[in-house]
Amino acid sequence: METANNDIVNKADKTEGDVNVSQLRDNWISENIDEKTKELLELDAKYFLHQSLSTPCMNVLESCEGSYITDMQGRKYLDFHGNNVHQVGYKHPKVIEAVKEQLDKLPFSPRRYTNEPAIQLAKKLTELTDGRLNKALFAPAGTLAVGMALKLARIVTGRFKTISWWDSFHGASLDSISVGGESLFISNIGPLLPGAIHVPPPSEYRNFLGNDQTSGMDSLEYIEYVFKHEPDIAAFIAEPIRYTTAIIPSKEYWQGLRSLCDKYGALLILDEIPTCLGRTGYMFAHEYSGITPDILCIGKGLGGGVIPMAGILTKEEYDVAGNIALGHYTHEKNPVGAAASLATIKIIEEENILEKVKTLGEWSLHEFKCLQAKRNIIGDVRGIGLLMGVELVKDRATKEPANEEAEKILYKSLSKGLSFKISGGNVLTLMPPLTITQKEMQKAISIIDECICEL
Ligand SMILES: Cc1ncc(COP(=O)(O)O)c(C=O)c1O
Repeated sequence: METANNDIVNKADKTEGDVNVSQLRDNWISENIDEKTKELLELDAKYFLHQSLSTPCMNVLESCEGSYITDMQGRKYLDFHGNNVHQVGYKHPKVIEAVKEQLDKLPFSPRRYTNEPAIQLAKKLTELTDGRLNKALFAPAGTLAVGMALKLARIVTGRFKTISWWDSFHGASLDSISVGGESLFISNIGPLLPGAIHVPPPSEYRNFLGNDQTSGMDSLEYIEYVFKHEPDIAAFIAEPIRYTTAIIPSKEYWQGLRSLCDKYGALLILDEIPTCLGRTGYMFAHEYSGITPDILCIGKGLGGGVIPMAGILTKEEYDVAGNIALGHYTHEKNPVGAAASLATIKIIEEENILEKVKTLGEWSLHEFKCLQAKRNIIGDVRGIGLLMGVELVKDRATKEPANEEAEKILYKSLSKGLSFKISGGNVLTLMPPLTITQKEMQKAISIIDECICEL
């Protein structure tokens, strides 16, 4: 019984990313890590609390620049993960300059005061939505932005229930894991927020019930069925694109969901914390869907890969919580973070990054589709802009996930200088910096192909 339980936990644990306790990881460490790095890893493991997905760590970094991270042994890795903070690449000189300048001027802005960079950032972000979302509130982490969005939805609607996707992730705090749907975060942790209802995410490739019948449970009809039985929903919250597994719902799905939210008086919260600011070839990821959310959560790359920055954008009509603390975070109007964000947005605009992402994204997707035609292990290739997922299967007919193979490819790729993460156990999640060159992209694709062949 215990073995069966462990087996379930081990499988479930891989939903958000490759885990840090595996034989393959141990092997990689013993083959690649020298004594000096090992000593630091041991100190890290001694002083930090251990948790899945991070400590114990597998390597120690020394520097990062452009598309690369460099470890203590001087090895460079093209970084296709970067926790999605590296839209403009690491250490972009203009971001660093803006941060240094701001540090010299006003490094912190206490409550009761505001500052010019924070005001300019709120203005710029709302302008980027063409005024559709014209009110902002910042926070120092994505999960806090999600928490603020959930609170605002309660205040606006006078309701508390939510609908969200199974397999989703919206941050690691208790409120965010309640709407998230990954067992790694919601198991063995006690009661979560009441009224957090989950539905299966839409997927063209995979039926999440694990059989090959179309269940219809990921359909809008099923969501309406839930709304009919629990009409007092405050908000539907989802990522416009489920970034880790690169699930891209159709425009029809979003338009249908927008109508359902309107029909039942629920707010639509879109969480594009990892996908905002150009990742999809659009400044905001939801733009591909043609709908406007009621609340948009942004973060990660917003801080230029340097400062933790996140926030919500919403409509003026929802500015109704003047007497309640929605966020009240110490670093709410962080001038240094705002300077980093403004510099990041300027780079995206000046370097024409959205156009580049669209073109390079289409080319990359085509290259991966060509690989898929040659390599049976690739069951599906999906992507939009420079957000790509390569789903590995043991058998194309049964779609049995190729989890072990995915992990082997990850460690082989690391040895060849490419870093990325695995999601859902069998999806290679590929998120290069948006400043990546076609040559670097080609190199990454060749490394993945070589690793597949070596299997
Ligand atoms: C979709 C999504 N929402 C929220 C978060 C939480 O952001 P943070 O880690 O800044 O709290 C993440 C982080 O990975 C995310 O991917």
